[in-house]
Amino acid sequence: MKFFVDTAEVNEIRELADIGLLDGVTTNPSLIAKSGRQFKEVIAEICSIVSGPVSAEVVSLDYAGMMREAAELKKIAKNVTIKVPLTIDGLKACKALTSEGTMVNVTLCFSANQALLAAKAGASFISPFVGRLDDIHLDGTELIAEIRQIYDNYAFDTEILAASLRTPLHVKQVALIGADVATMPPAVIKGLVKHPLTDKGIEQFMADWKKTGQSL
Ligand code: G3P
Repeated sequence: MKFFVDTAEVNEIRELADIGLLDGVTTNPSLIAKSGRQFKEVIAEICSIVSGPVSAEVVSLDYAGMMREAAELKKIAKNVTIKVPLTIDGLKACKALTSEGTMVNVTLCFSANQALLAAKAGASFISPFVGRLDDIHLDGTELIAEIRQIYDNYAFDTEILAASLRTPLHVKQVALIGADVATMPPAVIKGLVKHPLTDKGIEQFMADWKKTGQSL
């Protein structure tokens, strides 16, 4: 399973990339706004840190505008992945961009049929939002399972990029189902390592080691 980080904060991206666990980055207009930085500048900096796919989202809602913005974003770096919304215009842009060899992430997916359309449009990634379905009392992980089955039924190449993952439990659930990628905020990635018995075990080992009076 690939790990992407869902943020536009370059210091956090650098820290996670240094550990060696980062396969890519996803951003969206809300995360860019939160960073307080210029969109193209921050995407360029992220692409200089991470060699895997870096999603940059178009903000036009019409096909022509999306294509114009995609052309601008593609100039930033080879690993820029164009992110388009799951609309008719977004699917049309997806088809056009993937046909010319550009990676596309189709975002804001909330149903299996939407994911089927994205795969037919040649999407490199489909982004179903797990947490936002949970927010309205639906089971976001059930959607991941449905998409996994449909993509496997027809051997679609589109990778399932489980998004809006808010907890380590979400990560485990989508990994068990077989999502190809999990994109998570930095705190969720760091949360995966934590277990109270690991901390307790380290404390015990350190105390016992001290009793030996030895050093390494
Ligand atoms: O990748 C999508 C993600 O940024 C949405 O997360 O927590 O705002 O639903 P959230």
